[in-house]
Amino acid sequence: NLKGITTVLGDKSISHRSIMLGALAEGITTITGFLQGDDCISTINCFKNLGIKIEQNDDKIIVYGKGLYGLSKPNTPLYVGNSGTTIRLISGILCAQNFSSSITGDSSIVKRPMKRIIEPLSLMGANILSDGFAPLNIEGKALKGITYHMPIDSAQVKSCILLAGLYAQGKTTVVENFKSRNHSEIMLKNFGANIDVCNNAITIAQTKKLKPQNINICGDISSACFIIVGALITKNSHIIIKNVGINETRTGFLDVLLKMGANIKFLNIKYENGEKVCDIEAKSSTLKSVNIGGDIIPRMIDEIPLFALVASVAQGTSIVKNATELKFKESNRIETISIELNKIGANIKTTDDGMIIEGGKTFMANECNSHNDHRIAMCIAIASLMCKQPIVLNNYECVNISFPNFFNILENL
Ligand code: S3P
Repeated sequence: NLKGITTVLGDKSISHRSIMLGALAEGITTITGFLQGDDCISTINCFKNLGIKIEQNDDKIIVYGKGLYGLSKPNTPLYVGNSGTTIRLISGILCAQNFSSSITGDSSIVKRPMKRIIEPLSLMGANILSDGFAPLNIEGKALKGITYHMPIDSAQVKSCILLAGLYAQGKTTVVENFKSRNHSEIMLKNFGANIDVCNNAITIAQTKKLKPQNINICGDISSACFIIVGALITKNSHIIIKNVGINETRTGFLDVLLKMGANIKFLNIKYENGEKVCDIEAKSSTLKSVNIGGDIIPRMIDEIPLFALVASVAQGTSIVKNATELKFKESNRIETISIELNKIGANIKTTDDGMIIEGGKTFMANECNSHNDHRIAMCIAIASLMCKQPIVLNNYECVNISFPNFFNILENL
């Protein structure tokens, strides 16, 4: 079981955005709580390659922003490693520069769809040479504002368009079907961009100048959820995770857990840099099945593999619908989580857009693989807490993408 008080590292989505907007602001942005995971370090390296000085001083990151037009042509192709957020968001910025650049990443990145950003950026006047996958060869152009109705629910696509919108002549509006995470909107506003949110429509006007900020990044709810589930599914567990972000575009999974009967409490709620933050308390719980689909999916997109885990333990059968986007993550998560949990005693059937998960299971020993997907690796490690014999987890190092001290925290608890 898990017992004790802990923190989790900084939010991955907010960490990426703090470097990007810090680089585009005029002057010094300081960041505390930055996630030193491989993905966010890729973002730092890309901006260093674009001529931005970024220093680390104790636990503080200092970004010497050069303004919206202060980036310089990189000497080598930009390399994003495994980070979908980096490649998709930076592309929105690169399209509007007065130089050309190319951007690529690791063997997983080159398989992830980029047409979803190429299409709207091209409508704005961007010139991107690509076969729909990385590498993207981008020739900077003058952009014009558009109104874009999102065909899929993706915060990365939305953010990419909004960043391009900073440069585009006139106004750029993105209309979402269901709300996805809104960290870009919150941070762009804090940095002084002219951005307006009206229900599911976000409008940004061409911006002359961004003001540097001091940013304290809260703990990543997506990381916290692994520890929370570990506490819920084991007997005599009681944990508190301090200072976790609970922006409501990210808390779909917590809403689902509460519906399933989870014993979770939100303590000391406050706001920091426009983001809602609190301490989360979780105790061992008896869970019952629930069906998920529709607008909750984008609010828990990264936690659906964990949902498959808790639903396998809960009483009753749970169904996941409308989750096709899971196929385009670091791995095809509908497939990979089903394969790996089924190896250790779950009964999950995959469907076109989700899963049917039989509950009431306990896990048993076997050899599992992360498929080089950090969230799959951590799911298996959490499932092993319920298992009397050890589970062997191959390719576990990918946890460094988002949660480098994951195993230490588990051990300490
Ligand atoms: C992210 C958006 C989500 C999420 C990813 C981070 C972001 O991706 O899965 O981990 O920071 O904008 P999509 O926008 O592709 O759903």
